[in-house]
Amino acid sequence: MSGVTLGGLAALARQQQLSLRQAFATDPARASRYRSSACGITLDYSKNLIDESSWQALQQLAAASPLKQQLNAMLAGDKINHTEQRAVWHMMLRKSQVAGLSLDGEAVGEAILDCRNKMTALVNQLHQGQYTGYSGERITDVIWVGIGGSLLGPQMAVEALTPYHISPVRLHFAGNIDGAVVSDVMKPLRPQSTLVFVASKSFGTEETKQNALALRQWFTDNGADSSAIARHFWATSSNIKAAADFGIVPEHILPMWDWVGGRYSLWSAIGLPVALMIGNAQFAQLLKGAEAMDEHFISAPLSDNMPLTLALLGIWYINGFGCQAQALLPYSHYLRLLPSYVQQLDMESNGKAVDAAGAPLPYATAPVIWGDAGTNGQHAYHQLLHQSALTVPADFILPLNAAHTLSDQHQRLAAHCFAQTQALMQGKTLAEASAECMAAGMSQQDAQALAPHKVSPGNKPSNTLLLPELSPYYLGALIALYEHKVFCQGVLWGINSFDQWGVELGKQLSGPIYQALAGKDATALDSSTQALIAAFLQQKKS
Ligand code: F6P
Repeated sequence: MSGVTLGGLAALARQQQLSLRQAFATDPARASRYRSSACGITLDYSKNLIDESSWQALQQLAAASPLKQQLNAMLAGDKINHTEQRAVWHMMLRKSQVAGLSLDGEAVGEAILDCRNKMTALVNQLHQGQYTGYSGERITDVIWVGIGGSLLGPQMAVEALTPYHISPVRLHFAGNIDGAVVSDVMKPLRPQSTLVFVASKSFGTEETKQNALALRQWFTDNGADSSAIARHFWATSSNIKAAADFGIVPEHILPMWDWVGGRYSLWSAIGLPVALMIGNAQFAQLLKGAEAMDEHFISAPLSDNMPLTLALLGIWYINGFGCQAQALLPYSHYLRLLPSYVQQLDMESNGKAVDAAGAPLPYATAPVIWGDAGTNGQHAYHQLLHQSALTVPADFILPLNAAHTLSDQHQRLAAHCFAQTQALMQGKTLAEASAECMAAGMSQQDAQALAPHKVSPGNKPSNTLLLPELSPYYLGALIALYEHKVFCQGVLWGINSFDQWGVELGKQLSGPIYQALAGKDATALDSSTQALIAAFLQQKKS
C-alpha cells in the first residue's frame, strides 16, 4: 500500500470495502486506536472509513509531502503566499514570547507587544468608563465595522464566549453592505456615547467603507465636527493613509500587518471586540490556547498530529470518495457561528483550481463547509445525512462541561451528539427496521411496506471533538486546530492557501453594474445582466 498518490486515493477507496459496523464489532480496540488528544481536546476519529491499510497509506502521503519544509518556511517568515509576496506569520500573534522577533528588518515582536498594550489600555479605559465622547458622555456602545476576516472571527468568538462577557459596554457588528444592517445598529444608539471601529486591513473594502461613511454621516448629522469624529472613530488597518484620509487620527489606528491574512487575523487587533467583551486576561487565554495548538502542530509526530489527522481524513473523502461537502456540527449553542467562520477559513483558503505554480489541478480541493448548532439540525438536514445516497463527512464538536446549570439538558445534548455519530456509523438494516415495526404491533404486511423507509445505510463517517469546556483557552486551541488542518491540506494539494484571487472578479464587475444602475449605458453587458438592471431601474421609478 506504499507510495499512494492523491490520484491513487480513489482506487484505494474503491478497494477498501469497509463496513464500520463490522469493524467495531470485530475490533474492540478501534476506538482507542483512532483517538488522539492535544491541548486538552480529544479527537475520536474511529468512525471514519479507514482501516490500518488505508490509514497507513494516508500517513505515507503526508510523509512524502513537503509538509515539514512548508511549515519551516512559514515559521521562518518566507513569503509562502508567493502570489501576493507575503509571509504568513499569524502564529506569531499568539506567541507568549515575542521579544526580539523580527521580519525583513522590522521589529515585529516590539510591534506586537505595543499593539497588545494599546488594546489592553483601551479595553481598560472602556470598562472603567473613562472614555468619554465629544459631548462629555461616557461611551456605552461600540460598533465594529468590517467584513470577511475582519468580522467573522471576532463575531464568532464573542458569541462563543458569551458566558465570559464582563463588559459594561455593549458591542454591535456591522458587516454587510445591505444598509439594513448598519441602519438597525444605529437606530437604538446615540453617537454621543458610541465608538466606531473600522476594521479593514486594506481600508478599501467597499462594504466596510460604505458602512463607515454612513456612520460618519450619522455623527455629522448629530452635530459632530471633525475633532468629534476623530474622538469617536478608531481603525484596525495596514493602510494608515486611507484611514487617516477618512479622518482617523494616527493614535487611533491599530496595526494590521502585511503578513497576517484576513481570515487569520483574529489574533491581532481584529480580536479587540473579544478582548472588550471578555476582558484582557481571558483574551490572553484565547491566545494561549491557540499557541498550545501551534506547539502541538509543530512538534507532534505526523502519526499523532491532530490537525494533520483531520486534514488527511478530509483529503481521503474528497479525493478518495469524491465527497464535495463537509458538515461542521457544534453541539453548543454558543459555537453556532463556527461553521460560518470555518467556511471562510477553509473555502477561501483552499477553494482553488491551480497549483502553486499556476498549473491546473487534476483533483478537487476544498469541500463545501456547512452546518449549524446541534440539535437544531437533527430536525432538519440530518435526514439527508442519514438516508440520502450522499456521503457527507461530519465533525461533531461537544464541550463536555456546560456554562449553565441545567445539567440534565446538557446530558441530553451530549446523548444526542453521540447518538448521531453512532446512527451515522451503524445505520439500520432492513431486518432491524422490519423487526422494529413488528415489535410495535404492525402486521407483517404493513411492516414490510414501511420497513424500507426506515432503513439507514450507515457507514457514514464522522469525527467527534471533545472540549473540556468552551473556555477562551479551548476555543483558541480549536480555531488553531482548524487553521492548521487547512494549512496541511493546502500543502498536500500543492496550492497557495493564502491568497483569494477568486473573490476579485465579482468585485470588479460590480463597478460597471453599479454605474449602469445609476443610469449609465449598459449595452456592452450580457442580455441577462441588462434585463436584471432594467428590472431594478423600472422598480426604482415606480
Ligand atoms: O474579499 C475577501 C477579503 O479580502 C477577505 O480575505 C478579507 O478578510 C475581507 O475581504 C476583508 O478585507 P479587509 O480587511 O481588507 O476589509
